[in-house]
Amino acid sequence: MRRRARTLRDKLTPEQPQKMDHDGCQQGSPKQRLATAGGLSGSPGRRHERSLRRAVKELACSILPGRMPAVETNDVAARAWQRELVRRGYDAISLAYRSDDGEAASSSGEDVGRYAGWVAELAGLLPTGASVVDLGCGAGIPATGELAGHGLRVIGVDFSTVQLARARRLVPAASLVRADMAALHLRPASVDAVVSFYALIHVPLADQQALFPRIRSWLRPGGYLLAIVGACRWTGTERYLGADMFWDHADTGTYLRWLQAARLPPIWHRYIPEGDTGHSLILSRAS
Ligand SMILES: C[S@@+](CC[C@H](N)C(=O)[O-])C[C@H]1O[C@@H](n2cnc3c(N)ncnc32)[C@H](O)[C@@H]1O
Repeated sequence: MRRRARTLRDKLTPEQPQKMDHDGCQQGSPKQRLATAGGLSGSPGRRHERSLRRAVKELACSILPGRMPAVETNDVAARAWQRELVRRGYDAISLAYRSDDGEAASSSGEDVGRYAGWVAELAGLLPTGASVVDLGCGAGIPATGELAGHGLRVIGVDFSTVQLARARRLVPAASLVRADMAALHLRPASVDAVVSFYALIHVPLADQQALFPRIRSWLRPGGYLLAIVGACRWTGTERYLGADMFWDHADTGTYLRWLQAARLPPIWHRYIPEGDTGHSLILSRAS
């Protein structure tokens, strides 16, 4: 799912809870992994390195021609364009990414069955009728639908017109809002939980970091954030299911620090493998 495998296979067992002092990727940074892979020019490590360089170069070209790479940029216009690339991308690939019956693209390696367990675990912490915001809800299946199925009041947020139109049809029980989460404002202390599955990784890193204190402000005291974030640092653009797509994510340790600083101390985090790569699932509670 999301971008194709570009890291070495992680040796962790699926969804294994991690120690809270964990800081960074399980087998080192992508660079360290490349160094370990080393070898001849045709080796997976070298190929990986070349594709990484190409992605960074493409990003620099596609964002602001003639300027320095827009990676880790603080340039507001560049970040707006990176988000726009993602919005257009999901408008184009909505159906390829997720069919109406909730299946993932056959090339993705994604196990969509996992969402049900994640949502059930969160629902078990919340009273019936609690309000939950699903940031980057996509077409609403499976996560938004699962949340609604647990009797929760769900507000799905996504900026892709196509994704949101499908979510309206596929999850009529949810309230759906078309908005860029990087510019979203909700009433303080108005929701019991926020979830975000595989969406924050498309938000430029500076916008992601700024989002966590805002999420904290939307949560009632003791409210939860359950989010899929990056496990290793990576940024770039790639062709994905037939469209240009942008990703930006930090490593797990950085997310844990950001959440702590935002008064969203993590309760646990788990590595979620996916083919040769993976993400981190973090549960935080508003302090
Ligand atoms: C990989 S899909 C995940 C969809 C759904 N959460 C799931 O797990 O099936 C990412 C979704 O996040 C949305 N998204 C990405 N960046 C966003 C932003 N800045 N504001 C709102 N939605 C965003 C995309 O439009 C897309 O629908």
